[in-house]
Amino acid sequence: MTKFELVFITYPGMGHIVAMVEFAHHLINHDPRFSITILIITMPERMLVNTYIQSRAATSTSTNIRFVHLPTLETPTPDHSSQAPLCLVSSFIEKHKPHVKQAITNLMATELDRRFVGLFIDMFCTSMVDVANELDIPCYLYFPSPTTFLGFMLHLPILDTQLTTELAELDTELVIPSFVNPIPPSVLPSIALKKDGYSCFLYHARRYLETKGVIINTFSELEPYALNSLSTSQVPPIYPIGPLLDPVGPAQWQPDQAHHERIMKWLDDQPPSTVVFLCFGSIGSLSGSQVREIAFGLEQAGVRFLWALREPPKNQLALPNNFTNHEEVLPSGFLKRTAGIGLVCGFVSQVSILGHKAIGGFISHCGWNSILESLWHNVPIATWPIHAEQQLNAFELVKELGLAIEIRLDYREGSDLVLANEVERGIKSLMDCNNEVRTKVKEISMKSRMSMMENGSSYASTRALIQELVR
Ligand SMILES: *[C@@H]1O[C@H](CO)[C@@H](O)[C@H](O)[C@H]1NC(C)=O
Ligand SMILES: *[C@@H]1O[C@H](CO)[C@@H](O)[C@H](O)[C@H]1NC(C)=O
Repeated sequence: MTKFELVFITYPGMGHIVAMVEFAHHLINHDPRFSITILIITMPERMLVNTYIQSRAATSTSTNIRFVHLPTLETPTPDHSSQAPLCLVSSFIEKHKPHVKQAITNLMATELDRRFVGLFIDMFCTSMVDVANELDIPCYLYFPSPTTFLGFMLHLPILDTQLTTELAELDTELVIPSFVNPIPPSVLPSIALKKDGYSCFLYHARRYLETKGVIINTFSELEPYALNSLSTSQVPPIYPIGPLLDPVGPAQWQPDQAHHERIMKWLDDQPPSTVVFLCFGSIGSLSGSQVREIAFGLEQAGVRFLWALREPPKNQLALPNNFTNHEEVLPSGFLKRTAGIGLVCGFVSQVSILGHKAIGGFISHCGWNSILESLWHNVPIATWPIHAEQQLNAFELVKELGLAIEIRLDYREGSDLVLANEVERGIKSLMDCNNEVRTKVKEISMKSRMSMMENGSSYASTRALIQELVR
């Protein structure tokens, strides 16, 4: 039996690495002839990412997946505050090119029984297209964000020839082919609004076109319009193969199992679909005054809640920490007053919480993985974007798909506070069982599961990709 080797490399961000590891498992489950090497770029300050990798490597149930650490290079330090962290990290990734080439060359020399049929790169690792070319391995893009955002990226080179001002100065709505509605500038990604960030996006977007195909963690029933907008001859073939979810989330590598069990036990005691879950992702954290507005909003709404509360990071490349003491940041007496109906905790296994029957709504930063998890578990979202492309994701959910309640679409770091009243209104509308969003979420939730079943759309798309790889 011929064996096929694939090499994966990703941006060292939580959402990116989790999505890529799931994709590796997904391919191997479909076809055991594959074995996959995931090359790891290490950034010592990203503790959460490093813990995740260590534990995935230690607990991996598949012998066909291995993690290979590239030599640790010195992490860049931001030299002026206006520089987009993404650009720093992109050039940091690019510095790994010779090491990636060396690692793959070593593999080729030892794994003589295998055909090397694909280098899969993440959206910000496009410099590795060069390595694929040098080694004559087909290069594929693995895209962990929605199709609408891929459409945005691919539209940038065209937009670039039309724009007479910088994107940040734009005061009219933008027409982007992957969106039905024109896009208000207020929901564009912060990175694209900075000069260096914009060039960085543009660079990556151009290189997407050099790949042999783009694999997207989405399903065709969710984003039919956006997918259709990309089926043109200039764009490489698109494979929507999702939703791929981390089945247990950080539960299995959660250092503090007791903490996790305490939360699940608390949820067991709550009536079905009554708890609002608040969580802002692996890099999301809010200021102290924003935290207090949320607290008042929760109290005014009088709902049951589970709140994953985290402290802002110390530097812009690091990830947030738990608050050492929740009481310091919460309004005085809040924990006591809400003791019967609410629980405030640190970092949690989001996916297992979303899967709990007590959860009835999710206030989310709208990272794409979180959206997919929430839809899969039939939990409606109220939107509170913070970073990256999350404002566009929130816009897609609310305006394009009618699948979420709007708290804010254009919140970002440094925005005005979302006031307690807005939080209260959002929660009430989210938890209203007659809300039309709830019906639509239920339908798409069923479709998300069907897409992954035998002969479902994502299943078929995965088969097509495999056919292409082993051809
Ligand atoms: C945050 O809290 C969780 C749960 O108590 C714990 O498992 C985790 O190690 C903490 N993380 C940090 C960075 O302190
Ligand atoms: C999937 O499609 C194949 C070929 O059309 C068919 O033989 C098979 O029974 C289908 N499986 C299911 C579960 O529908």
